[in-house]
Amino acid sequence: MTTQLDLTDIQGNVIRAYGRFGYPVARYVFLNIRHSARARAFVAEVTRRVTSSVEWGDQPGQIKQPDWTVNIAFAYQGLKELDLPRASLNGFSPEFVEGMKQRRDMLGDDGPSAPENWDPIWRGNRDTRDKDVHIFISLNARLPALLEASYQWLLSLLANYKDEVVILGGHRADNGALLDYQDVCVVMEDGKPTAKEHFGYTDGIGDPVFEGAPDYDLKAQGRGKQMEDGSWAPLATGEFLLGHVDEAHEYPPAPQPVLLARNGTYMVYRKLHENVATFDRFLEQHAKDYPGGKELLAAKFVGRWRDNGAPLVRAPDAKSKAEFDQAFAQADAATRDKMLSDFTYDEDMSGAKCPFSAHIRRINPRASLEMVKGDKPGCMIANPGAFDTPGALANRRRLLRRGLPYGQVKDRSRDDGNHGIIIMMINADINRQFEFVQQQWVNYGNDFQAGSDKEILLGNHSSDARFPSKAVLQVDPDSDDAPYMLSKIPRLVETRGGEYFFVPSLTALRMIAAGVIDPT
Ligand code: HEM
Repeated sequence: MTTQLDLTDIQGNVIRAYGRFGYPVARYVFLNIRHSARARAFVAEVTRRVTSSVEWGDQPGQIKQPDWTVNIAFAYQGLKELDLPRASLNGFSPEFVEGMKQRRDMLGDDGPSAPENWDPIWRGNRDTRDKDVHIFISLNARLPALLEASYQWLLSLLANYKDEVVILGGHRADNGALLDYQDVCVVMEDGKPTAKEHFGYTDGIGDPVFEGAPDYDLKAQGRGKQMEDGSWAPLATGEFLLGHVDEAHEYPPAPQPVLLARNGTYMVYRKLHENVATFDRFLEQHAKDYPGGKELLAAKFVGRWRDNGAPLVRAPDAKSKAEFDQAFAQADAATRDKMLSDFTYDEDMSGAKCPFSAHIRRINPRASLEMVKGDKPGCMIANPGAFDTPGALANRRRLLRRGLPYGQVKDRSRDDGNHGIIIMMINADINRQFEFVQQQWVNYGNDFQAGSDKEILLGNHSSDARFPSKAVLQVDPDSDDAPYMLSKIPRLVETRGGEYFFVPSLTALRMIAAGVIDPT
């Protein structure tokens, strides 16, 4: 049976990572509501311009790809200001109601990542009503000049709502100034756009595929869920969209009425600063001792090689990487895509190829958690038959990733400045998906038989010498090699702010704007 989604009803940024669709620049604007009825009128006007997920094309009757896109989302406080009925507000999830700042302890946002170090807009959020972030507008454009045009459109719209809906400033910029918006842009090299982030890794490869998304039946290999017979299937829609059945064959918890929730979802917005100088120093320092050399070591941090994203399970050493590169260079786009995504950890239960603390293994362990202790020390083997779908434990923790890098690295010998990633993760259940991954898999290693070792790249590693952070780079248990101990891992990524948002469907937007939500 083919699942069909009403793409005209779903906001465009839910289905598409705009960066991969020819939009290399974006601007994120956050608004505060001072007058509820006028704010609903503003939402009505924006809704008329909101970009849906409908497929674009140049044929007669098709909708042309726009030069810039508009999307809108709301924080819990914003929905309150828009006068949603109490019974509907009560149906939103507790973590969404609390907001990201309140959830800092469970997210591990401590030390340099603590809210007191966030950009002023996020630091003041939820302190007083006039500093609350209520509405999130995201503008994505094909060119910087078109982005400017989209921002002018927003400003001219807001001019009709003076003192009723206002922009909240307080985003740190490159020169330390505070801006009214957060700009993001792909990383440029020699004047050309790249798929890189500021540590030098190729990003934006693995994004889950779910039922009903365009071409979902063609793209599930490596991106959907592993099945018992070795095939792949798309994930259930309800992992990413409310009002649809999820991997547990249930509807994810959602507010009433159904039309408010259906085809909507939750979005986790996080501004993550990258300590490039610390990263480079740490890599150089360990590369001197690591037998595989610097680039293999960098690949071990993430699970993919930096230059082309080759997965370590397919290219675990210099020789296999050279073979991978040769085949990759000759492959067509579809084959390349498959080479990058279509793999499992079934043949790497010891972690000898991709370590248990590598970024992509911790964040999406595929079916590798359904394993039992093997007969060799430190070696795990697959436990077939544990579940109908071998990746059942991981299938409920998947995240759609949106967003782009921000800022430019002007001096790689310094950590300060303003550069990192704005990551926006879409999931139907913030607690079960994003928060679980962040707490249990990023900042703790027990599920990976790695004790309290944190994920290498993102872990909230402590600078306190009494609690040094380490990670083990496993080796083949049949070899005489010793595992490599990555000791004294510094904090490589720091949180600079963020919030949880609700991304309504187009139907729900119209209902919110008209003030006609009836939860009974
Ligand atoms: C500065 C922070 C971050 C950097 C530099 C970074 C970098 C990367 C890179 C290089 C990849 C491999 C390319 C790919 O598969 O697309 C990746 C994959 C991924 N990252 Fe991150 N990331 C960051 C933060 C996060 C956060 C906070 C999350 C969620 C908690 C996350 C979730 C993911 C996911 C879901 C994948 C795909 C894994 C897979 O399915 O195999 N990332 N990231």
